[in-house]
Amino acid sequence: MKQDELKKAAALAALEYVEEGSIVGVGTGSTVNHFIDGLVNLRERITGAVSSSEASTRRLARHGIPVIDLNEVTDLPVYIDGADEIDPALCMIKGGGGALTREKIVAAVATRFICICDSSKQVGTLGAFPLPVEVIPMARAYVMRELAALGGRPVVRPDFVTDNGNVIIDLHGLRIAAPVALEEEINQIPGVVTNGLFARRGADVLLLATQTGVERHLHR
Ligand code: 5RP
Repeated sequence: MKQDELKKAAALAALEYVEEGSIVGVGTGSTVNHFIDGLVNLRERITGAVSSSEASTRRLARHGIPVIDLNEVTDLPVYIDGADEIDPALCMIKGGGGALTREKIVAAVATRFICICDSSKQVGTLGAFPLPVEVIPMARAYVMRELAALGGRPVVRPDFVTDNGNVIIDLHGLRIAAPVALEEEINQIPGVVTNGLFARRGADVLLLATQTGVERHLHR
């Protein structure tokens, strides 16, 4: 199977986690797009979705799935999203699509984070994928210096503005042995909105599509 077919297989496997009558948390990206397309068939059986990006909101709306403001929601049984990398402890790097801040907020509200990935995203140690950091524009140069001091090579993502009006700095060349500590450290830098490490709140379930089927990994 090609990579996109694997993404679709993982995404469709996540449909069984959608609870009847509930609101579903929806992530962002090409894997999640397959999930949204599959969710159409459950449209009548859910109340609606909370979205993590303008792009996912548009796709949900096109499919006639009601998009609900997160501020109106107290009970969100599941959040379904992809990842750029995921390690054996189900810590992730996310934000390749630049939606990391809203993704982290929706994930924080959800009871369970279901990560949907093809097997190319599975790694032993995070960091080969550049770590995205969302930054308030006036803090860009300062945050670049602070990130460089951590040992990485910060690069401003060209021609990119987040849904929140901010810039993304991608931090290259890290080997992230302690993801929780690094997530907290980077988030302490003034001007950082959030970074793409999802380690303090990692995934609870990983649906990993491989050539031999979709594997289910549970957070231990
Ligand atoms: C977007 C994300 C995505 O989940 C991540 O980039 C994976 O994307 P894809 O499913 O297209 O491979 O974090 O901000």
